Amino acid sequence: MTETKILHASTENILDCVKYLKNGDVVGIPTETVYGLAADAFNADAVAKIFKIKGRPSDNPLICHISDLKMLDYLTCDKNSSLFRNITEKFWPGPLTVILPKKAGVLNLVSANLETVAVRFPSNAIARSLIDSFGRPLVAPSANLSGRPSPTTALHVYNDLKGKVGAILDGGRCEIGLESTVIRLEGDLVEVLRPGAVSVDMLKSVAANVSLGDSVLKPFASDGAAVCPGVKYAHYSPKAEVVLIDSSFSNFCKYVLDRMGRDVWCVVFDGEQGFFQKNVLTFGSSPASQARNVFSILRKLDEVGARKAFFRAPSKSGIGLAIYNRLLRASGFNLVVL
Ligand code: TXA
Ligand code: MG
Repeated sequence: MTETKILHASTENILDCVKYLKNGDVVGIPTETVYGLAADAFNADAVAKIFKIKGRPSDNPLICHISDLKMLDYLTCDKNSSLFRNITEKFWPGPLTVILPKKAGVLNLVSANLETVAVRFPSNAIARSLIDSFGRPLVAPSANLSGRPSPTTALHVYNDLKGKVGAILDGGRCEIGLESTVIRLEGDLVEVLRPGAVSVDMLKSVAANVSLGDSVLKPFASDGAAVCPGVKYAHYSPKAEVVLIDSSFSNFCKYVLDRMGRDVWCVVFDGEQGFFQKNVLTFGSSPASQARNVFSILRKLDEVGARKAFFRAPSKSGIGLAIYNRLLRASGFNLVVL
Protein backbone atom coordinates (compact mmCIF):
# COMPACT_ATOMS: atom_id res chain seq x y z
CA MET A 1 0.00 0.00 0.00
CA THR A 2 1.40 3.41 -1.06
CA GLU A 3 1.27 6.39 1.26
CA THR A 4 -0.81 9.10 -0.47
CA LYS A 5 0.38 12.69 0.05
CA ILE A 6 -1.78 15.71 -0.67
CA LEU A 7 0.68 18.38 -1.83
CA HIS A 8 0.10 22.11 -1.93
CA ALA A 9 0.73 23.13 -5.55
CA SER A 10 3.99 25.06 -4.95
CA THR A 11 6.64 25.18 -7.69
CA GLU A 12 8.74 22.75 -5.68
CA ASN A 13 5.90 20.25 -5.31
CA ILE A 14 4.98 20.55 -9.01
CA LEU A 15 8.59 19.64 -9.84
CA ASP A 16 8.40 16.69 -7.42
CA CYS A 17 5.33 15.48 -9.28
CA VAL A 18 7.24 15.77 -12.56
CA LYS A 19 9.78 13.38 -11.02
CA TYR A 20 7.02 10.92 -10.11
CA LEU A 21 5.73 11.11 -13.71
CA LYS A 22 9.21 10.62 -15.21
CA ASN A 23 9.54 7.58 -12.98
CA GLY A 24 6.42 6.05 -14.55
CA ASP A 25 4.14 6.85 -11.59
CA VAL A 26 0.71 8.49 -11.65
CA VAL A 27 -0.27 11.73 -9.91
CA GLY A 28 -3.61 13.37 -9.10
CA ILE A 29 -3.76 16.87 -10.62
CA PRO A 30 -6.17 19.80 -10.63
CA THR A 31 -7.62 21.16 -13.87
CA GLU A 32 -10.29 23.81 -14.44
CA THR A 33 -12.88 21.05 -15.11
CA VAL A 34 -12.30 18.15 -12.66
CA TYR A 35 -9.22 16.54 -11.06
CA GLY A 36 -7.30 14.21 -13.37
CA LEU A 37 -5.14 11.15 -12.79
CA ALA A 38 -2.05 11.97 -14.84
CA ALA A 39 0.62 9.75 -16.39
CA ASP A 40 3.22 9.95 -19.18
CA ALA A 41 1.19 9.37 -22.38
CA PHE A 42 4.15 7.56 -23.97
CA ASN A 43 4.96 5.16 -21.14
CA ALA A 44 2.83 2.01 -21.58
CA ASP A 45 3.44 0.80 -18.00
CA ALA A 46 2.40 4.14 -16.54
CA VAL A 47 -0.75 4.25 -18.70
CA ALA A 48 -1.61 0.68 -17.67
CA LYS A 49 -1.44 1.80 -14.01
CA ILE A 50 -4.21 4.32 -14.66
CA PHE A 51 -6.59 1.64 -15.93
CA LYS A 52 -5.75 -0.60 -12.98
CA ILE A 53 -6.07 2.10 -10.31
CA LYS A 54 -9.40 3.41 -11.63
CA GLY A 55 -10.79 -0.01 -12.50
CA ARG A 56 -11.39 1.42 -15.96
CA PRO A 57 -12.43 -0.85 -18.86
CA SER A 58 -9.60 -1.03 -21.40
CA ASP A 59 -11.88 -0.11 -24.30
CA ASN A 60 -12.42 3.39 -22.88
CA PRO A 61 -9.70 5.67 -24.32
CA LEU A 62 -7.89 8.49 -22.47
CA ILE A 63 -7.50 12.19 -23.21
CA CYS A 64 -3.97 13.52 -23.91
CA HIS A 65 -3.25 16.89 -22.28
CA ILE A 66 -0.89 19.44 -23.84
CA SER A 67 0.42 22.80 -22.66
CA ASP A 68 1.30 24.32 -26.04
CA LEU A 69 0.28 23.75 -29.64
CA LYS A 70 3.71 22.34 -30.56
CA MET A 71 2.91 19.29 -28.44
CA LEU A 72 0.20 18.39 -30.97
CA ASP A 73 3.03 17.04 -33.13
CA TYR A 74 3.42 14.08 -30.75
CA LEU A 75 -0.21 13.13 -31.32
CA THR A 76 -1.54 14.01 -34.78
CA CYS A 77 -0.65 15.13 -38.29
CA ASP A 78 -4.09 16.67 -38.85
CA LYS A 79 -3.93 20.07 -37.20
CA ASN A 80 -4.28 22.32 -40.21
CA SER A 81 -7.97 22.36 -41.10
CA SER A 82 -9.46 25.83 -40.79
CA LEU A 83 -12.29 24.43 -38.62
CA PHE A 84 -9.80 22.98 -36.11
CA ARG A 85 -7.79 26.21 -36.13
CA ASN A 86 -10.84 28.44 -35.64
CA ILE A 87 -12.19 26.32 -32.80
CA THR A 88 -8.93 25.96 -30.93
CA GLU A 89 -8.02 29.63 -31.39
CA LYS A 90 -11.24 30.50 -29.64
CA PHE A 91 -11.48 27.81 -26.94
CA TRP A 92 -7.93 26.66 -26.16
CA PRO A 93 -6.61 26.69 -23.55
CA GLY A 94 -9.88 25.67 -21.92
CA PRO A 95 -12.48 22.99 -21.22
CA LEU A 96 -12.66 21.52 -24.73
CA THR A 97 -11.37 18.15 -25.98
CA VAL A 98 -11.02 17.53 -29.71
CA ILE A 99 -10.89 14.05 -31.27
CA LEU A 100 -8.26 13.95 -34.03
CA PRO A 101 -6.77 11.28 -36.30
CA LYS A 102 -3.89 9.82 -34.31
CA LYS A 103 -0.26 9.66 -35.29
CA ALA A 104 1.57 6.32 -35.32
CA GLY A 105 3.35 6.22 -31.98
CA VAL A 106 0.27 7.06 -29.87
CA LEU A 107 -0.10 3.99 -27.66
CA ASN A 108 -3.02 1.68 -28.47
CA LEU A 109 -3.76 1.57 -24.77
CA VAL A 110 -4.29 5.36 -24.81
CA SER A 111 -6.60 5.35 -27.83
CA ALA A 112 -8.21 1.96 -27.00
CA ASN A 113 -7.17 0.77 -30.47
CA LEU A 114 -9.17 3.51 -32.22
CA GLU A 115 -7.66 5.43 -35.14
CA THR A 116 -8.20 8.67 -33.24
CA VAL A 117 -6.82 10.43 -30.18
CA ALA A 118 -8.54 12.89 -27.83
CA VAL A 119 -6.58 16.10 -27.13
CA ARG A 120 -7.14 18.82 -24.55
CA PHE A 121 -5.18 21.99 -23.71
CA PRO A 122 -6.28 22.87 -20.16
CA SER A 123 -6.31 26.46 -18.92
CA ASN A 124 -5.56 25.65 -15.26
CA ALA A 125 -2.18 27.20 -14.42
CA ILE A 126 -1.02 24.29 -12.22
CA ALA A 127 -1.86 21.68 -14.88
CA ARG A 128 -0.13 23.73 -17.55
CA SER A 129 2.97 24.28 -15.50
CA LEU A 130 3.17 20.53 -14.73
CA ILE A 131 2.80 19.53 -18.41
CA ASP A 132 5.26 22.24 -19.43
CA SER A 133 7.91 21.05 -16.98
CA PHE A 134 7.28 17.45 -18.02
CA GLY A 135 7.74 18.48 -21.66
CA ARG A 136 5.41 15.95 -23.31
CA PRO A 137 1.66 15.16 -23.36
CA LEU A 138 0.13 13.63 -20.24
CA VAL A 139 -2.91 11.37 -20.27
CA ALA A 140 -5.41 12.21 -17.55
CA PRO A 141 -8.84 10.68 -17.07
CA SER A 142 -10.96 12.04 -14.23
CA ALA A 143 -9.33 10.93 -10.96
CA ASN A 144 -12.30 8.95 -9.56
CA LEU A 145 -12.81 5.22 -9.31
CA SER A 146 -14.64 4.14 -12.47
CA GLY A 147 -18.39 4.69 -12.11
CA ARG A 148 -18.12 7.21 -9.24
CA PRO A 149 -18.80 10.96 -9.50
CA SER A 150 -15.81 12.88 -10.88
CA PRO A 151 -13.64 14.60 -8.24
CA THR A 152 -13.70 18.39 -7.93
CA THR A 153 -11.44 18.68 -4.84
CA ALA A 154 -8.17 17.02 -3.82
CA LEU A 155 -10.06 15.40 -0.94
CA HIS A 156 -12.49 13.69 -3.37
CA VAL A 157 -9.44 12.20 -5.14
CA TYR A 158 -7.97 11.14 -1.79
CA ASN A 159 -11.22 9.47 -0.73
CA ASP A 160 -11.34 7.42 -3.94
CA LEU A 161 -7.64 6.66 -4.47
CA LYS A 162 -5.82 6.73 -1.12
CA GLY A 163 -3.21 4.00 -0.93
CA LYS A 164 -3.20 3.72 -4.73
CA VAL A 165 -1.42 6.95 -5.79
CA GLY A 166 1.70 8.56 -4.33
CA ALA A 167 0.71 12.22 -4.66
CA ILE A 168 -2.23 14.51 -5.28
CA LEU A 169 -1.51 18.14 -6.17
CA ASP A 170 -4.02 20.33 -4.38
CA GLY A 171 -5.19 23.23 -6.53
CA GLY A 172 -8.36 23.96 -4.55
CA ARG A 173 -11.85 23.50 -5.85
CA CYS A 174 -12.24 23.13 -9.63
CA GLU A 175 -13.51 26.30 -11.24
CA ILE A 176 -15.98 24.62 -13.64
CA GLY A 177 -16.75 21.33 -11.90
CA LEU A 178 -17.77 19.27 -14.97
CA GLU A 179 -15.54 17.45 -17.45
CA SER A 180 -14.58 19.07 -20.75
CA THR A 181 -16.80 19.23 -23.81
CA VAL A 182 -15.71 16.44 -26.21
CA ILE A 183 -16.11 17.12 -29.94
CA ARG A 184 -15.45 15.30 -33.18
CA LEU A 185 -14.86 17.13 -36.47
CA GLU A 186 -15.97 15.76 -39.80
CA GLY A 187 -15.67 18.00 -42.87
CA ASP A 188 -17.36 21.20 -41.73
CA LEU A 189 -19.43 19.41 -39.08
CA VAL A 190 -18.80 19.57 -35.32
CA GLU A 191 -20.40 16.78 -33.31
CA VAL A 192 -20.65 17.16 -29.54
CA LEU A 193 -20.04 13.74 -27.99
CA ARG A 194 -19.99 14.95 -24.38
CA PRO A 195 -21.42 18.36 -23.43
CA GLY A 196 -19.42 20.64 -21.14
CA ALA A 197 -18.71 24.28 -20.35
CA VAL A 198 -18.00 25.05 -24.01
CA SER A 199 -21.67 24.92 -24.99
CA VAL A 200 -23.35 24.18 -28.31
CA ASP A 201 -24.15 27.89 -28.73
CA MET A 202 -20.55 28.86 -28.07
CA LEU A 203 -19.40 26.37 -30.72
CA LYS A 204 -21.97 27.78 -33.15
CA SER A 205 -20.21 31.14 -32.90
CA VAL A 206 -17.25 29.64 -34.82
CA ALA A 207 -18.76 26.66 -36.70
CA ALA A 208 -21.87 26.76 -38.89
CA ASN A 209 -22.72 23.12 -38.42
CA VAL A 210 -22.90 21.84 -34.83
CA SER A 211 -24.86 18.73 -33.86
CA LEU A 212 -25.43 16.79 -30.62
CA GLY A 213 -24.26 13.18 -30.49
CA ASP A 214 -26.99 10.57 -29.99
CA SER A 215 -25.77 9.55 -26.57
CA VAL A 216 -25.93 13.02 -24.96
CA LEU A 217 -29.56 12.63 -23.91
CA LYS A 218 -30.18 8.94 -24.62
CA PRO A 219 -28.81 5.72 -23.18
CA PHE A 220 -26.22 3.93 -25.27
CA ALA A 221 -27.89 1.49 -27.70
CA SER A 222 -26.22 -1.78 -26.82
CA ASP A 223 -26.24 -2.96 -30.44
CA GLY A 224 -24.36 0.12 -31.72
CA ALA A 225 -20.66 0.99 -31.72
CA ALA A 226 -19.97 3.86 -29.32
CA VAL A 227 -18.43 6.91 -30.98
CA CYS A 228 -17.34 8.01 -27.51
CA PRO A 229 -16.75 4.74 -25.63
CA GLY A 230 -17.22 6.38 -22.21
CA VAL A 231 -20.98 6.61 -22.85
CA LYS A 232 -21.38 2.83 -22.58
CA TYR A 233 -20.60 2.69 -18.90
CA ALA A 234 -22.47 3.51 -15.71
CA HIS A 235 -21.26 6.88 -14.50
CA TYR A 236 -21.21 9.38 -11.70
CA SER A 237 -23.32 7.18 -9.46
CA PRO A 238 -23.71 7.55 -5.73
CA LYS A 239 -24.99 4.53 -3.79
CA ALA A 240 -28.46 6.09 -3.63
CA GLU A 241 -30.98 5.53 -6.38
CA VAL A 242 -31.21 8.90 -8.17
CA VAL A 243 -34.43 10.07 -9.82
CA LEU A 244 -34.17 13.11 -12.08
CA ILE A 245 -37.35 15.20 -12.12
CA ASP A 246 -37.74 17.56 -15.08
CA SER A 247 -40.61 19.83 -14.06
CA SER A 248 -41.63 23.13 -12.51
CA PHE A 249 -40.85 23.54 -8.81
CA SER A 250 -44.52 23.16 -7.86
CA ASN A 251 -44.85 19.88 -9.78
CA PHE A 252 -41.57 18.70 -8.25
CA CYS A 253 -42.97 19.39 -4.76
CA LYS A 254 -46.26 17.62 -5.46
CA TYR A 255 -44.47 14.56 -6.80
CA VAL A 256 -41.83 14.37 -4.10
CA LEU A 257 -43.82 15.18 -0.96
CA ASP A 258 -45.81 11.95 -1.19
CA ARG A 259 -42.68 9.95 -1.72
CA MET A 260 -40.38 11.31 1.00
CA GLY A 261 -39.46 8.98 3.86
CA ARG A 262 -36.58 7.59 5.83
CA ASP A 263 -33.27 8.04 3.98
CA VAL A 264 -35.06 9.61 1.02
CA TRP A 265 -33.58 12.98 0.09
CA CYS A 266 -34.31 15.71 -2.39
CA VAL A 267 -31.88 18.06 -4.11
CA VAL A 268 -33.23 21.42 -5.18
CA PHE A 269 -31.92 24.82 -6.32
CA ASP A 270 -30.78 27.43 -3.78
CA GLY A 271 -33.74 29.19 -2.21
CA GLU A 272 -36.15 26.28 -2.65
CA GLN A 273 -35.10 24.29 0.42
CA GLY A 274 -37.49 26.05 2.83
CA PHE A 275 -40.36 24.03 1.42
CA PHE A 276 -38.95 20.83 2.89
CA GLN A 277 -38.61 20.10 6.59
CA LYS A 278 -35.62 17.79 6.37
CA ASN A 279 -33.53 15.59 4.06
CA VAL A 280 -32.93 18.43 1.62
CA LEU A 281 -29.73 19.54 -0.12
CA THR A 282 -29.23 22.46 -2.49
CA PHE A 283 -26.91 22.53 -5.47
CA GLY A 284 -26.75 26.18 -6.54
CA SER A 285 -28.82 28.84 -8.20
CA SER A 286 -27.07 29.82 -11.45
CA PRO A 287 -26.15 27.12 -13.98
CA ALA A 288 -22.44 27.83 -13.34
CA SER A 289 -22.81 27.22 -9.60
CA GLN A 290 -24.90 24.08 -10.20
CA ALA A 291 -22.09 22.78 -12.45
CA ARG A 292 -19.53 23.49 -9.72
CA ASN A 293 -21.55 21.70 -7.05
CA VAL A 294 -23.24 18.78 -8.73
CA PHE A 295 -20.49 16.16 -8.26
CA SER A 296 -19.96 17.19 -4.60
CA ILE A 297 -23.68 16.79 -3.99
CA LEU A 298 -23.68 13.32 -5.55
CA ARG A 299 -20.86 12.38 -3.15
CA LYS A 300 -22.67 14.06 -0.25
CA LEU A 301 -25.66 11.75 -0.80
CA ASP A 302 -23.38 8.86 0.15
CA GLU A 303 -22.10 10.72 3.23
CA VAL A 304 -25.64 11.30 4.55
CA GLY A 305 -26.57 7.67 3.82
CA ALA A 306 -29.29 8.45 1.27
CA ARG A 307 -31.12 5.43 -0.14
CA LYS A 308 -32.97 7.43 -2.74
CA ALA A 309 -32.69 11.03 -4.00
CA PHE A 310 -35.02 13.16 -6.11
CA PHE A 311 -33.02 15.70 -8.10
CA ARG A 312 -34.38 18.92 -9.64
CA ALA A 313 -33.36 18.91 -13.32
CA PRO A 314 -31.49 22.02 -14.51
CA SER A 315 -32.39 23.84 -17.71
CA LYS A 316 -30.90 22.22 -20.82
CA SER A 317 -29.38 25.41 -22.24
CA GLY A 318 -25.71 26.46 -22.08
CA ILE A 319 -23.73 24.52 -19.46
CA GLY A 320 -27.13 23.29 -18.15
CA LEU A 321 -27.11 20.62 -20.87
CA ALA A 322 -23.88 19.20 -19.45
CA ILE A 323 -25.30 19.09 -15.91
CA TYR A 324 -28.48 17.46 -17.23
CA ASN A 325 -26.38 14.88 -19.12
CA ARG A 326 -24.36 13.95 -15.98
CA LEU A 327 -27.52 13.66 -13.86
CA LEU A 328 -29.24 11.50 -16.49
CA ARG A 329 -26.28 9.13 -16.29
CA ALA A 330 -26.05 9.31 -12.50
CA SER A 331 -29.71 8.28 -12.40
CA GLY A 332 -29.23 5.48 -14.94
CA PHE A 333 -31.79 7.39 -17.12
CA ASN A 334 -34.35 7.28 -14.31
CA LEU A 335 -36.09 10.43 -15.59
CA VAL A 336 -39.57 11.71 -14.68
CA VAL A 337 -40.94 14.52 -16.86
CA LEU A 338 -43.94 16.32 -15.34
O1 TXA B 1 -12.24 17.60 -18.33
C1 TXA B 1 -11.79 16.51 -18.69
O2 TXA B 1 -11.88 16.10 -19.87
C2 TXA B 1 -11.12 15.63 -17.63
C3 TXA B 1 -9.87 16.36 -17.13
C4 TXA B 1 -9.08 15.56 -16.14
O3 TXA B 1 -9.09 16.77 -18.19
N1 TXA B 1 -10.82 14.33 -18.13
C5 TXA B 1 -11.79 13.41 -18.40
O4 TXA B 1 -11.31 12.19 -18.85
O5 TXA B 1 -12.97 13.64 -18.24
P1 TXA B 1 -12.20 10.85 -18.85
O6 TXA B 1 -11.24 9.79 -19.21
O7 TXA B 1 -12.89 10.74 -17.58
O8 TXA B 1 -13.21 11.05 -20.04
C6 TXA B 1 -12.74 10.99 -21.37
C7 TXA B 1 -13.89 10.79 -22.33
C8 TXA B 1 -14.45 9.38 -22.25
O9 TXA B 1 -15.86 9.44 -22.38
C9 TXA B 1 -13.82 8.71 -23.47
O10 TXA B 1 -14.60 7.66 -23.97
C10 TXA B 1 -13.73 9.87 -24.46
O11 TXA B 1 -13.40 10.99 -23.66
N2 TXA B 1 -12.65 9.66 -25.46
C11 TXA B 1 -11.33 9.59 -25.24
N3 TXA B 1 -10.68 9.32 -26.39
C12 TXA B 1 -11.61 9.23 -27.36
C13 TXA B 1 -11.56 8.98 -28.77
N4 TXA B 1 -10.42 8.76 -29.41
N5 TXA B 1 -12.74 8.94 -29.43
C14 TXA B 1 -13.91 9.17 -28.79
N6 TXA B 1 -14.01 9.42 -27.47
C15 TXA B 1 -12.89 9.45 -26.76
MG1 MG C 1 -14.34 10.20 -16.22
